[in-house]
Amino acid sequence: MSTPVTQLPAWDALLQARDRLAGTHLNQLFANDPARPDARFNGLSLRLENLLFDYSKQRVTPETMELLVALAEARDMSAGIRRMAAGELINFTERRAALHIALRGPGKWQVSGHEVNSEVEGTLWRVAKFVSALRSGQVLGATGKPIRRVVNIGIGGSDLGPRMAARALAAFAGPVAVDFVANVDPTELQAVLAGAEPAETLFIASSKTFTTVETLTNAGSARDWIIAHLGEAAVPRHFAAVSNNVSTACDFGIPAERIFAMAEWVGGRYSMWSAIGLPLACAIGMEGFGELLAGAAEMDQHFLSAPLAQNMPVIMGLLGIWNADFQDASSLAVLPYCHALADLPAYLQQLEMESNGKRVLADGTPVGVHTSPILWGGPGTVGQHAYHQLMYQGTRTVATDFIVVVGDDSPAQRVLVDNALAQSAALMAGKTAETAKAELLARGISPAEAERLAPHVACPGNQPSSTLLMPHLTPRSLGRLVALYEHKVFVQGWIWGINSFDQYGVELGKQMARSIEAMRGDPSRLDASTRGLMAAVDNCRRDG
Ligand code: F6P
Repeated sequence: MSTPVTQLPAWDALLQARDRLAGTHLNQLFANDPARPDARFNGLSLRLENLLFDYSKQRVTPETMELLVALAEARDMSAGIRRMAAGELINFTERRAALHIALRGPGKWQVSGHEVNSEVEGTLWRVAKFVSALRSGQVLGATGKPIRRVVNIGIGGSDLGPRMAARALAAFAGPVAVDFVANVDPTELQAVLAGAEPAETLFIASSKTFTTVETLTNAGSARDWIIAHLGEAAVPRHFAAVSNNVSTACDFGIPAERIFAMAEWVGGRYSMWSAIGLPLACAIGMEGFGELLAGAAEMDQHFLSAPLAQNMPVIMGLLGIWNADFQDASSLAVLPYCHALADLPAYLQQLEMESNGKRVLADGTPVGVHTSPILWGGPGTVGQHAYHQLMYQGTRTVATDFIVVVGDDSPAQRVLVDNALAQSAALMAGKTAETAKAELLARGISPAEAERLAPHVACPGNQPSSTLLMPHLTPRSLGRLVALYEHKVFVQGWIWGINSFDQYGVELGKQMARSIEAMRGDPSRLDASTRGLMAAVDNCRRDG
């Protein structure tokens, strides 16, 4: 698609809607119609199974939503969904499909006219066979001891998804311990190895390309560790690999029967459902992994079948475009009020910003609008004592996704959930200077002091947020949640007209790292800053 979205009449209609809404506070939008006090919540929320998506605290009216859906229709979003599901080459720069939904749901899946079900089922069968053997103590190390610890070595999409899910689903894990190493900083691997018994440890080298420097460096260090403790011959018994590049994984010394393939039509940041999920399956077992896939498949079926106006990923994607391009919200905070989801923001950073941190259309011309916002976040209630101040009294619009897991009815859990609801309400409602002054006076503060402090206590409110609420965090509910965000990202990229499935930008950093190393001998070709920094590095290394 190469028509800039700004050239669509639907975009102009939204600009006019923005201007009509300017100056209207969310509190006014919630001004109750006495006859129908819950109308706004009921009209601006969606449910799928036991997942509730409440978007009534977004700066929209029913009319705005109609105009946003009209934008999706103008971009033929339904055709986009069909084309993605049909395995068309929607990754139009690399000429690949983006068919991660084939990894988790029923259907006769094709890529460029070739059926892929047997490839998917075959890999899943091999994963299941290996995981079941490993978890039942039948996978033995070089000394004959059963493997009891798995260490996944990977980065980006070969780490963030399984790492996030393994932490999220720790309550479902056991008896195999699973660790994750991503950073080339040797301290991460050393910390994991410090607690590991070589004879009982298996490394999974996870890398779609099997060329990523961080992963190959760490895998090499792990291999050296095994050799140092168990000898060279032990390596094949203590390694497995997940890759699209089977030959290079073989060359590393990993036996073919321990190499699990991933298809080229699965993007790294969409690959948790593929063999990249092997460490997660080792942690929670194949039954749990199957539930994760089933939850994602539920969201897929909803995405593929629901009308746009009742389609959760479509609405979520449209609201993100409304906030980024019409409400000047340059960032999106994802705040899980569930500590087990503490790694979700980091996972979503890659999913959203590596997918939609793009600037050109299919024909290479500028997209003409802001694309992905800066995604950040952290677990509530911890963040309330760190960055919520900026959200209350800073100068920026910050859009927020609150993710609430209701959980049990323990006192602490009630405090957690009450805080989630309170924060979204308070960020919306704010506190006027008049209210602040009255509260100060009521506390016995002198009128002069109350007058002086009121502007410092007031909060403008009107911060937009959505709340995703579920009863419990299970493999199925996690699968649903992650698939929701995957499809939301696709909706946004489709409407902006960018390619959500390549990542040429990150290659520049890799090139620069290689040239820095190459120019050590002749730094004159570097910029003065980098040259000065290199000299400082050398001095540190020389002087300690
Ligand atoms: O960050 C760039 C990237 O290519 C990601 O898209 C990918 O998930 C990550 O590096 C790791 O790549 P690989 O799985 O090939 O090692």
